[in-house]
Amino acid sequence: MSDSSSTEVLVAILRTEIAGLAPGDRLPSSRDLIARHGVGPVTVSRAIAQLAAEGVVVTRPGSGTYVSARRPRHVDEASDTSWQAVALAGRGQDPVTGLVEADGPADSPQAGTIALHGGYLHEGLQPARALGAALARAARRPDAWHRAPVAGLAPLRAIFARQAGTGVDPEDVLVTGGGQGALSMLFRAIAAPGGPVLVESPTYPGALAAARAAGLRPVPVPMDGDGIRPDLLADAFAMTGARLLYCQPTFHNPTGAVLSAERRRQVVDVTRAAGAFLIEDDFARHLGHGRTVPRPLVADDRDGTVVHLTSLTKPASPSLRIGAVIARGPVMQRLQGMRLVDDFFTARPLQEAAVELVSTPAWDRHLRALSSALRDRCAVLADALARELPDWTLAHVPAGGLHLWLRLPATLTEAAVAGAARAHGVAVNAGRRYFPAEPPAAHLRLGFAAAADPAELTEAVRRLAAATRRPS
Ligand SMILES: Cc1ncc(COP(=O)(O)O)c(C=O)c1O
Repeated sequence: MSDSSSTEVLVAILRTEIAGLAPGDRLPSSRDLIARHGVGPVTVSRAIAQLAAEGVVVTRPGSGTYVSARRPRHVDEASDTSWQAVALAGRGQDPVTGLVEADGPADSPQAGTIALHGGYLHEGLQPARALGAALARAARRPDAWHRAPVAGLAPLRAIFARQAGTGVDPEDVLVTGGGQGALSMLFRAIAAPGGPVLVESPTYPGALAAARAAGLRPVPVPMDGDGIRPDLLADAFAMTGARLLYCQPTFHNPTGAVLSAERRRQVVDVTRAAGAFLIEDDFARHLGHGRTVPRPLVADDRDGTVVHLTSLTKPASPSLRIGAVIARGPVMQRLQGMRLVDDFFTARPLQEAAVELVSTPAWDRHLRALSSALRDRCAVLADALARELPDWTLAHVPAGGLHLWLRLPATLTEAAVAGAARAHGVAVNAGRRYFPAEPPAAHLRLGFAAAADPAELTEAVRRLAAATRRPS
C-alpha cells in the first residue's frame, strides 16, 4: 500500500474510534497505533496531523493526542451556501467547470482501477530519489526563503534558455508555476476578451478551459498526422481576424502528432503574416521515445511571433510546479507586469530545487530511462489494442508523449465505453472534451504513463475488450 493510501485507511479507522469517545478522551499512543494497525510511524504522524488540521483532535506535545472539545463545524451543521448561486449569477455562465477535471493531478479513481486517464507519470516513473535530494539541497541554501526575482532565478532562466536552443537568451525567460498557470496568463495577456483564438482540433482541454476563462472563443483548425494544416490556418486567420494561435507542435496532446519540418516554418510564417502571436505549448519536450526531438519553434523565431511555454511537471512530477515562458518584445513586459498582479513570483525553494534537480547527472539518466520506458509502454499498449480491439482505429503510434488517440467504431459511443470501462476497473478519457466544437467522431485517449507497469496496460486492454464485447 502506498504511504498516502495507508494514511487514508488509518484516518478512517481513527474517525470511527473517535466517534465512540468523549471530548477530552486520550487517543492511544503512537507506539500503540503502530503496533495495533501494523503501520509505520510516518503514517501515524500523517494521520494524526490530518485529524488535528480538521479540528477532530488536539495534540499536546509530551502528553498525547486528545479528542477535541469543539467538534469540527461540518460534523454538527449542514451549511447553506445556496445564496452563492444568486451572488455568482452576475458573473455569467461558468466556462470552466467540467473541462479540466480528468487531467488534473487531484483526479483519483477507486482503488484497483487501472489509470489510462490523466496526464502525468506514475510514481514509479518519477525520479523520486533525485527529487528528494534536490529539495533537501535546496532547503540547505541560506537564501532558499529569500524573495525571488519576478522573472525567476537566473540559473533557472539560463537552464530553460539552453533547453530551448541556441538563439534564446536567459533574458527572454519568465519562470512560472507550471504550464497551466502560464497558459492562463498568456491567454489573458495576449488576446482581448470576446475575441477568437485559433486552436488545433482536437487539442488539450486545459487550454480550451483557460482560453474560455479569459473570455476567448476557441476556433478549431483541422490537423492531420503531420500536425496543424497551414493552408487551413491561413484561411482561419483571414476569416476570423484572430491575433492568436495556440499550438502544440511536438507530441501534441491528445494525438501525439509532430508538426512536420516543412510545416513548422509555414505555420510560423502564416502566423507572422497575420500579425498574430503563436503560443507554442512545448509541454512534451522531454517525453520523446528515443528519436531526435525537433527544435522548438521559438529557437528559429527572431520577430517575437512565437511565445513558448514549457514545464517540468511532465518529466518529473505534477508537484514540481515549475515551468517557463519564453517571449520577446513588449509582450514580455506585459507578462512580467501580469505576474506581479497575479502572484509576484514562483516560490523560491521550488525554483532552487528545480535548478538542483536539472543540473545533476541523475536528471540526464532519468530522462534516458524515461524515454525507453515510455517507448516500451507505448508499444505494449498499441500491440494489446491491435490484438484485442482491432476495430478501434489508431491513426499512428506516436514517437513521443504519454497517450494513444483512438477513433471508436461507429457502433460505440464514448459515454458507453467510458462507463463500461469504469465498471470493469479502467479509467479512460472520453474524446469529446478535446474538441473545441462538435466532435467529428467518437474518440478515446488512452495513456500509458500513469499505470503502474506494462502488465497493467495489457490487463487494462483485456478489461476494455471484455467491457465492450457484444453479448453473443
Ligand atoms: C498540452 C498540455 N499543456 C500544458 C499542460 C499543463 O501542465 P502543467 O501545468 O502540469 O505544467 C498539460 C497538462 O496536462 C498539457 O497536457
